Amino acid sequence: MSTPPVTDRADHPAIRVRGLEKSFKDLKVLRGVDVDVARGSIFALLGSNGAGKTTLVRILSTLLKADGGRAEVNGFDVASRGAEVRESISLTGQFAAVDEILTGRENLTMVARLRHLKDAGAIADRLLRRFSLTEAGARRVATYSGGMRRRLDIAMSLVGDPPVVFLDEPTTGLDPEARLEVWSAVKELAAAGTTVLLTTQYLDEAEHLADRIAILHEGRILVHGTLDELKRLLPPAKVEYVEKQPTLEDVFLSLVGTAANGEKR
Ligand SMILES: Nc1ncnc2c1ncn2[C@@H]1O[C@H](COP(=O)(O)OP(=O)(O)O)[C@@H](O)[C@H]1O
Ligand SMILES: [Mg+2]
Repeated sequence: MSTPPVTDRADHPAIRVRGLEKSFKDLKVLRGVDVDVARGSIFALLGSNGAGKTTLVRILSTLLKADGGRAEVNGFDVASRGAEVRESISLTGQFAAVDEILTGRENLTMVARLRHLKDAGAIADRLLRRFSLTEAGARRVATYSGGMRRRLDIAMSLVGDPPVVFLDEPTTGLDPEARLEVWSAVKELAAAGTTVLLTTQYLDEAEHLADRIAILHEGRILVHGTLDELKRLLPPAKVEYVEKQPTLEDVFLSLVGTAANGEKR
């Protein structure tokens, strides 16, 4: 290994964001965003299309510079300690970065070699096992289902064991079965101690996966908390005999308004 791994800076939260601002020309995308993500947790950043989720993730992964505010990942400032941040994270985008021509195992060993890790083959085999891809590992990715591809993509982002993983809309475009496969892969990640920040426009995804949820709307975090905390923001609707708890969708729509729901499939 040519560079020592960046160990978890355990006394720091995995992610800390304060007053983050970003504009594209006149378009103010982030207008003072505050976020804290605890180590080993799954944090869902929920927002409609165009809310600024990808912009925030790109700033946190040092691909984009903020105009104002501060952000730390794994205890490192994204503006001044970019190299350490990049060694602490992986980023998986909406569009899988796997090579179709190669097999699953070849994709994984290639990434391990690019990262100058020893025993690339053993690392690949471990990740294939972990994501239930051992049998598929010898096949070209071109033959994989959408869920298998996305699982392989997540596995590739884990080569080198980054403590913090960003998943930008990990299930957009997947069929229901593939979504469930990805969900269980994400849960397993957090169970193994990795911090996961995922973005999603799907309320049920945040509801199902996340320890904490933040709603990003018009450049700010409108609310954040556990699912139960968010549900408590609305009084339970009284139905004749039973109390109906508000769903996350009720909370989201009451805060963001119905217009934001237009894209939902
Ligand atoms: N590089 C860019 N140049 C100009 N506008 C951008 C750029 N990146 C994103 N935007 C705009 O910023 C807004 C937020 O985009 P994005 O962060 O991708 O939202 P989301 O990921 O929540 O869908 C959108 O209106 C988008 O068009
Ligand atoms: Mg996006």
